[in-house]
Amino acid sequence: MSFNLQGILRRDLNVIVPYKAPRVGEGVVKLDANENPFEFPEDIIKETWERLKYSLTRYPDPMATELIAALSEYTGVPEEGIMAGNGSDELILNILLVFGNGGHVIIPTPTFSMYRIHSLIAGAKPVEVPRGAKFEADISAVAGACKRYQARAVIICSPNNPTANTTPVEDVRRLLEESGALIVVDEAYIDFGGESCLKLLNSYPNLVILRTFSKAFGLAGLRVGYLLGAPEVVKELYRIKQPFNLNIFSQLAARTALSNNGEFKLMADKILVMRDKLVEEMSRIKDVTVFPSEANFILFRTQLKGKEVFEGLLKKGVLIRNVHAPGIEDCLRVTVGRESENKFFLDSLQAVLNRNA
Ligand SMILES: Cc1ncc(COP(=O)(O)O)c(C=O)c1O
Repeated sequence: MSFNLQGILRRDLNVIVPYKAPRVGEGVVKLDANENPFEFPEDIIKETWERLKYSLTRYPDPMATELIAALSEYTGVPEEGIMAGNGSDELILNILLVFGNGGHVIIPTPTFSMYRIHSLIAGAKPVEVPRGAKFEADISAVAGACKRYQARAVIICSPNNPTANTTPVEDVRRLLEESGALIVVDEAYIDFGGESCLKLLNSYPNLVILRTFSKAFGLAGLRVGYLLGAPEVVKELYRIKQPFNLNIFSQLAARTALSNNGEFKLMADKILVMRDKLVEEMSRIKDVTVFPSEANFILFRTQLKGKEVFEGLLKKGVLIRNVHAPGIEDCLRVTVGRESENKFFLDSLQAVLNRNA
């Protein structure tokens, strides 16, 4: 009997385009992924290797016990309310698999595209609610959508990728009280701006906060994220956790980074100073509209098509992100880099806009 690939396929996944990012060579200034632009501190890498006492031939601790204890100390959340993941991406998918499947998930957009994709993978229906003129999450519209669809979950990104604005804690509180849904607040960029919803966690069992080591903590390559929530919510998520989702080295590096968190705080402060300078310099370029930023990246638009600017910059050796989408037509997102990288980006942008490509 012949094999019928189409016959066994989940056809609802056809709308998902496989994730690809341009593979850049040496010398390209990489300002596309909101990473920490500095070298990872040498002393912290060294300390991580020195602490590596487990054999690599053995599986990692499936409960990431020591990392969870360190996170509990760092956040003040009890260990039963914490789960670590292979990047927060894994945790977003797990939340949607457990709570979203078969129901609706409300997503104020434009926002991080993986919320929609993970909803589809999890068999949940994403409902996109447009953000307002200043990209603020429209809380009344979100609450209305929750009611209309009897939504299972809402995902709010604050600071929001790619618009770089934040959602006030009181707006989140309103949703926690009015929506009847699980409210997931993605605080991937919280070290750069906005007020954390952490203080609401004790009062609302329907709040889940997502964090990552990929941004301010500079560990994007090691894939470590975590979530904070009510123990009864976290307990349900553990049912589907891959047993060995977090490798030995990543668990250890994240712990070591946490015990040196002051160093990363200093880096984040430096990034914010460079961000403000970059916003100011971009705003001075004719025909560039720069949106206010409370994050380590900046959303902007020019008089040219976004695609043209993106390609022009890439030709000059600068990789940024073309985030063209409804509500942010022809917009681009640039990550704050090191001083020299920001300068190179500014000069290249100016040249592209002058059409000296
Ligand atoms: C808002 C937001 N959440 C989550 C992630 C994924 O982070 P991680 O590297 O922890 O999977 C990103 C990555 O860009 C992001 O922008």
